[in-house]
Amino acid sequence: MSQASLTRSVWTLDAGDYPADGPIDDGARFLLRYAILAPSSHNSQPWRFDVRGEEIHVGADESRWLEATDPDKRELYLSVGCAVENCCIAAEHFGFDPVVEYHDPDSADYVVTVRLEAGAPATPRPEGLFDALTARTTSHAVFDGRALDADSRERLDGVGGDAGVTLHLVDDAETRDAIARLQATADRRQMDDPAYRQELGYWIGLGALGSSWIAARIGQAVVTHLDIGDREAAKNSKLIQSAPVVAVLSTPADGPVEQIKTGQIFERIALLASAAGVAVHPMSQTLERPELRSRLRDRLATAESPQHLFRLGYTEETPEHTPRWPLDVFLDDTRVAPEE
Ligand SMILES: Cc1cc2nc3c(=O)[nH]c(=O)nc-3n(C[C@H](O)[C@H](O)[C@H](O)COP(=O)(O)O)c2cc1C
Repeated sequence: MSQASLTRSVWTLDAGDYPADGPIDDGARFLLRYAILAPSSHNSQPWRFDVRGEEIHVGADESRWLEATDPDKRELYLSVGCAVENCCIAAEHFGFDPVVEYHDPDSADYVVTVRLEAGAPATPRPEGLFDALTARTTSHAVFDGRALDADSRERLDGVGGDAGVTLHLVDDAETRDAIARLQATADRRQMDDPAYRQELGYWIGLGALGSSWIAARIGQAVVTHLDIGDREAAKNSKLIQSAPVVAVLSTPADGPVEQIKTGQIFERIALLASAAGVAVHPMSQTLERPELRSRLRDRLATAESPQHLFRLGYTEETPEHTPRWPLDVFLDDTRVAPEE
């Protein structure tokens, strides 16, 4: 793990600083300042980048992989997908058509290449996403129970189909209660696993989840050593019950490429929601337990694999931004030197 410090200063970005007249590499690196604002599981920020001219290569950093929480690497690739989406949104804003290619992690060093082509994309992303990049946060609040307004619901519902990712919007009380029960079971099982607790404690202790130094130390000790499964279960099922909508993203196949695409779609939804004043909260524990993941699939009556679950709703609370490591930490120094 890098010695560089976590900082919130990365959130203060001035689009006017974009180096429009400089070399394309500098422009690409500027786009990556938006990429690193993406959400990630435990705020682990498991991405790495290599800029080569107009190509940005994006990799999954396995040194930041949450091995105990996420043994199948689903959340690792989802998180990388979120960063890819931020990069593409910024690229469109600064006048590029970002063309994304996906690579199989078993045979490639980088899982995605974003090629910055000049000009506007044939199908641009929805408006308003760029401004949301520096505003979006994850909410952990109890929602106030207001139903999702019809306009926002319709806009969110339209996202995903063209990427092969299905969005399920659950708002009937019976299914939501069943999901709340799955969440409670998942919390108890995860908190019964010392490796899970230790890993969560490690990231809390680093301050990645945003606490002050002392609060982070206390949080790490509590999560690592105390039996808090029942407390988490009660808290999280209440959070789900307060949400007018629980959303699940699913895909027909269950591999890294589908998971990266799901991350992209999730991030697009999170940014659209942020622009519309709708709070978003991923809750992953059910999906982290294979037996509960398949029960969720049955509940949704889908043959697809559930990839990501999050609450949508309203709250007056505006969370503080969580910190990030500075961009330099994520830039690979592997560029091939130009021939003499
Ligand atoms: C794949 C993925 C899984 C996540 N799972 C959870 C979760 O189970 N519980 C939670 O409170 N937040 C979850 N989050 C949110 C992260 O904790 C959050 O993105 C991170 O702390 C950075 O904060 P920010 O989103 O406010 O920038 C998840 C995010 C992603 C991308």
